[in-house]
Amino acid sequence: MRIVLRLGGSVVASPVNTDLIKKYAQIVRSLKEQGNDVVVVVGGGALAREFIAIAKQLSLDEQAQDEIAISVSRLYAQLFLKTLGGIGCRQVALTLDDASEYLREGKVVVMGGLKPGITTDAVAALVAEHVKADLLVKGTDQEGIYNKDPRKHADAVKLDRLSFDELVNVFSEHKHKAGIHQIVDPEAIKILKRGRMRLIVVSGFNPENILAAVKGEKVGTLVS
Ligand code: UTP
Repeated sequence: MRIVLRLGGSVVASPVNTDLIKKYAQIVRSLKEQGNDVVVVVGGGALAREFIAIAKQLSLDEQAQDEIAISVSRLYAQLFLKTLGGIGCRQVALTLDDASEYLREGKVVVMGGLKPGITTDAVAALVAEHVKADLLVKGTDQEGIYNKDPRKHADAVKLDRLSFDELVNVFSEHKHKAGIHQIVDPEAIKILKRGRMRLIVVSGFNPENILAAVKGEKVGTLVS
């Protein structure tokens, strides 16, 4: 199976959790040993946001702010790649074509951001589309997708399974509540929907969830 793993900066990098980074390296090794092709997309987390704020204070424009944030995500990607060791690609993939090339070489691909104006969720969706992945798994800071923002509503219910259309409705019904947007970037949803790719959102704080999701066990939220 060809798998894209979207690793939240909010999970491994806010603050940096080296134990978790090591565990993820082990999980990716297991996936590779099981015969899967793997692409890992790492987010920039709190440090990216700090650098965006600094860039703003310097009156740099949005594109420059994004470029700085992309560099931060690539720094975390490099850290993860080095931790992976020999099974990883020779350097952080900077383009979608790099990702395809490194997969052809039999390596695990690791990348951060790609271009201004998007988030690493959209990067994960774009790369999944480009390499024709079977599954995108997102490890995030919540147990899955909820019918409303669980940080603001005690009665929020986790959804086990939904279609992309239903997910779009969840977004539009709760347009004004920021939290839900952070779970999966709507731009990423659009790309996944047009490519008919499966997405599983799980809590990234337990890396075993990734293996469970790949095995088809009931974990997090499945969007298909
Ligand atoms: P991220 O995707 O790294 O952070 O984007 P996130 O959405 O907070 O996700 P996690 O949970 O930390 O992983 C942070 C910012 O980096 C810029 C955008 O400004 C985005 O809001 N960015 C990132 C880009 O412009 N292009 C990219 O390809 C990636």
